[in-house]
Amino acid sequence: MEYLTRLAESIQIPQRIDREKLTPIVSIAAATTVLFASYKIISSSKHKKKMREQGFKEIPMPGSCYPYVGHMFSMGELPGKTVSEWHREFGPLIKIKMGCQYWLSCDSPYLAHKIFVTHGANTSFRPYSTYSYEYYSFKGKGIVFSQPNESFKMFRSAALSVLSPKMIEQNYMDSILKESSEFAKRLINTTEINGSVDPLKYLELLTLNVIFNAGFGRSFNTIDDPEFRTLAHMVETTMKLAALKNDLPSFLPALSIVDYFFGTEAKMKSFINNERNPTYRRLIRESFTKEGPNVIKSIGENGYVMDEDDMVVFMSDLIAAGTDTISVTMSWNYAILCRYPDLQKRVSAEIDAFIKTHGRIPNFSERQEIPLCVSVMKECMRYRPTSSFGVSHTTDKDIVVDGYFIPKNSTLIANMGSMHTNAERYENPYEFIPDRFLDNLKTMQASANGGIEQRDTYNFGFGRRICPGIFLAEVEIFFAFVQVFARCFIEPVLPGKYPNLEGGIDAGLTVLPLGYNIKFTRRPDALIA
Ligand code: HEM
Repeated sequence: MEYLTRLAESIQIPQRIDREKLTPIVSIAAATTVLFASYKIISSSKHKKKMREQGFKEIPMPGSCYPYVGHMFSMGELPGKTVSEWHREFGPLIKIKMGCQYWLSCDSPYLAHKIFVTHGANTSFRPYSTYSYEYYSFKGKGIVFSQPNESFKMFRSAALSVLSPKMIEQNYMDSILKESSEFAKRLINTTEINGSVDPLKYLELLTLNVIFNAGFGRSFNTIDDPEFRTLAHMVETTMKLAALKNDLPSFLPALSIVDYFFGTEAKMKSFINNERNPTYRRLIRESFTKEGPNVIKSIGENGYVMDEDDMVVFMSDLIAAGTDTISVTMSWNYAILCRYPDLQKRVSAEIDAFIKTHGRIPNFSERQEIPLCVSVMKECMRYRPTSSFGVSHTTDKDIVVDGYFIPKNSTLIANMGSMHTNAERYENPYEFIPDRFLDNLKTMQASANGGIEQRDTYNFGFGRRICPGIFLAEVEIFFAFVQVFARCFIEPVLPGKYPNLEGGIDAGLTVLPLGYNIKFTRRPDALIA
């Protein structure tokens, strides 16, 4: 029992849970399950033997797996990094025990393609989580958290339709161009006033403006606008509540008692009923009266039938999936490029050459004319991926892939962090090589939906659940890049004091760079104001 108490004290408890209060509960939970755990150890060695006898390859389980909690608290501050280290030691497919759930993490792009694409009919399900199923999605509506049934197909098809290149070019390109130009000017002005700037808040304003404008015909002028702050907080809460640490009882059923005391589920219910739903219902109703195109109006115009609850989840999906992801991607991009002043000069020179010829910055359709910029954007996303694990999948039945037996209901993870440093796929994978993608300039959408050999990065997932927002994402990233480097250089606040590229903040779906301030210094030779 003393061992179990020590174990409970040593494990890393997620921030929101008080260690002192949790220790006895984990001890009790561990004590009551210790017999079950030893039975599992005996039966798991029998299971391994049986698998070997049947000719299946073994799926190794990394070291520090404790009874009951498994690896849950052995993953450190940055689970993506820890799991990547495990992959380096144990190979391309590993088994991680998360309380009562088994996760299979894959870091080989080729194996991931087989699992998620070739076997997509059985691996495109989403695992259950209390928040996403019971509260967020009104029990399975929408795209992100729903199962691949008829309703999902309708929602996904509607998303692909409203986010299609044609719709974005026709309806939203001008406003994205305008927003990104305002964004670059805000960064320069704030640097001139304050001496430096943390670009993340401004990226949030940019990405929220783009999606709120496209979604509901609504945008904001400053990060101090009270409505912007409320909406940004709402999106942030949506993501935080979806994080695993808020769903401990799904992993450790004995911890339902902790949830009861801390009222986590009550908080989820209150947030959805009192904040998210009323806000989105108001925005949806207002959008029907707004001039110009917006996603809410397009749904019906494109022949999709959704009631108001459907629209609330649909828009929550697009906003939650389509804001933070882009802000985080660009935040890494600026942090990385701050270290490479000579590369910035080459990038700016390429954009300037285009401006001299055409009298304006390039459009997205002209991206092939600035190949270095395109390659740098892709390399930044490879070098520091937006997300470590993307969104997990699960299986509806036992399957065999490449000699591995994958049991029904396993949680399947594509480990993007280590996939992007796969030496079979990328030469010198740990080096930042700006020219790496000069021979693969096609759009990220074309690349992600093409053959596995042709993919540039794996940031947008795999198969039937692959991100439907890739085109919009790349357009936003493109303009946030071009507008900035057409006007300024990025510099550290003090010479040599660069943003930290080694650490990171695990924000659930995304991994943020550690907070940093930099200077967006106006270029005296800029060809546009
Ligand atoms: C850099 C930006 C982005 C990244 C890195 C990204 C990445 C991802 C990933 C990894 C997934 C999970 C794929 C899978 O399950 O295999 C996903 C799903 C999704 N993304 Fe994105 N995304 C980005 C931007 C966007 C944008 C702009 C939108 C829309 C406005 C969007 C909407 C969605 C939706 C609705 C899903 C759920 C798809 C499904 O479950 O079928 N994403 N995204």
